[in-house]
Amino acid sequence: MIKPTDSVCAWHRLGWVLGKQLFSVAEARQVAKRRLPRMMFDFIDGASGDESLRDLNSAMIDHIRLMPRVLIDISERAMSASILGQETGLPFGIAPMGMCALSWPGADFSLAREAAKRRIPLCVSTASSMALEQVIELAEGHAWFQLYADQSNGFVDELIDRAIAADYKVLILTVDVPIPSVRTRDKRNGFSFPMNWGASQIWDFASHPRWSLETALHAIRHQMPQPMNYATSSQKTTFVRNASRAGADWNFLATLRDRWPGKLVVKGVQSVEDAFRIKTIGADAIYVSNHGGRQLNAAPVAIDSLVEIRNAVGGTFPLIFDGGIRNGEHVIKALAAGADFVMLGRSVMYGLGAGGAAGLGQILDLIEAEASSVMGLLGCRNIAELGAANLAENYETLMLRTMLERAAE
Ligand SMILES: Cc1cc2nc3c(=O)[nH]c(=O)nc-3n(C[C@H](O)[C@H](O)[C@H](O)COP(=O)(O)O)c2cc1C
Repeated sequence: MIKPTDSVCAWHRLGWVLGKQLFSVAEARQVAKRRLPRMMFDFIDGASGDESLRDLNSAMIDHIRLMPRVLIDISERAMSASILGQETGLPFGIAPMGMCALSWPGADFSLAREAAKRRIPLCVSTASSMALEQVIELAEGHAWFQLYADQSNGFVDELIDRAIAADYKVLILTVDVPIPSVRTRDKRNGFSFPMNWGASQIWDFASHPRWSLETALHAIRHQMPQPMNYATSSQKTTFVRNASRAGADWNFLATLRDRWPGKLVVKGVQSVEDAFRIKTIGADAIYVSNHGGRQLNAAPVAIDSLVEIRNAVGGTFPLIFDGGIRNGEHVIKALAAGADFVMLGRSVMYGLGAGGAAGLGQILDLIEAEASSVMGLLGCRNIAELGAANLAENYETLMLRTMLERAAE
């Protein structure tokens, strides 16, 4: 049975009354940076290597220019979308992220409730801080499960069985974490699970009393943040942050395709050759992503991979995209550049960190309102009308447009 969450949400709302109205993801990031212990903020915000790819992902979407079309009645606009046979309230959902509860206690409750309210998919990480059965129940079915081929075959097999039993219709296999990357900020902060307590960690928590107090209260009422799919596994598998997930090879994918009865998505794909092979094996969609720059910092910029892969797989094969989406304009640009559906990563974590449930709601409202406005200014009345024709023919986007038009032929 799911424990009541109202006390958590009421507490968050009260906090929010004393808090701050958010007007952008950038602002949410700043507020989250102040409120979260440095170790937690850096875990969310950080990336691998020199972290340049994380910022390039957004910067390259900024460079895309769109062409406004006029004299069209766009007063009525619909933001609903369709992906993998599901009707969604919005053209974007929430990317899989492990240990969301580190952004704010009760984060999983808030995410699941938003997914239910807005009818958007919440991708539930293998390392989620709420058990996969609880999330899909709270999200009223609006949840997809993300699988890592982590640790033992027994653990992975059981996760698949649990996802089937919980009535998940979509499984995402993440393939871009065969080994951990080097994340300097986490190393510097001594970020580990379970926590290693030292003077600097104690000082970090003490100097961010609001997060620490709310986390402690939540732990007393519910439980300490922990990867719950591991804690609830009959295999007694413990979460090891630096464990290899290299079990996900081509054989594993082919076996998974046979075993999983629902829609199968492969996440973390950037190479055209890999995309072809994944499509041939029978995946239902490819999730183009560079993990928000958290794995190979030298990898291609996410939006470039999207265009390349769209060009290669043709106009109709479903592509899901994430990486650097920080506003509604970014969502519309990704859809115009070949995505069928877009996922939000850090943007929602910053919202949670800035204001808990209320902060998350505000960020989702902002992104929806911006996306609706940008879509209207392009002369489009619904998501299905968006496409390569919305890209302006300037120096930056001409090549994208030509490639996408070729893909649609
Ligand atoms: C804190 C955090 C945890 C993440 N955990 C996972 C995970 O468990 N599984 C996964 O497939 N991707 C994970 N990701 C990657 C996201 O799904 C997504 O690809 C990425 O955040 C998109 O980039 P953006 O945050 O810059 O928009 C994580 C990302 C963040 C920021």
